[in-house]
Amino acid sequence: MAVLLFSAEQQQKFDSGLVEILSHYPADRKSAAMLPALRLLQSLKGWLPPAGLEQVAERLGTTREKAYEVATFYVMFFTRQPGKYVLDVCTNLSCSLRGAEKVLAALEQKLGLKAGSANDRFTLRETECLASCGTGPCLQVNEDHHESLTPAKLDALVATFT
Ligand code: FES
Repeated sequence: MAVLLFSAEQQQKFDSGLVEILSHYPADRKSAAMLPALRLLQSLKGWLPPAGLEQVAERLGTTREKAYEVATFYVMFFTRQPGKYVLDVCTNLSCSLRGAEKVLAALEQKLGLKAGSANDRFTLRETECLASCGTGPCLQVNEDHHESLTPAKLDALVATFT
């Protein structure tokens, strides 16, 4: 028995979303819509499950392998279910000079996780520049930026995680 990927409401959003996305691409270049199609899938499921990647590939007239190539190239896509909170700590030069390693070490200690690992609640990662170089150290939690982090700010932020 096939695993149901979407609820009826999600399936409707996926179908109508793909129609809208594909309206911007020539019919013989549907595979060029891979990025927005994957973003649509992830917005509905929270990650890119294999059955979803297969649906995207099929609808874009390409192979599952092509969908995986794109999905595994960009860090914003998850091919495994992430924690409820995805924490990306920028450790590039500007943030590093302003204490990013201390922020990362503090998070590892507070969350009981090493960078690059995850549990049901948290995914903790080092990441490349988050475009907040003048206000580092910078941490992105899901889609929110937190800048000029200090130990006190970090404590307050971690206390908001439910
Ligand atoms: S170096 Fe950290 S945001 Fe740019």
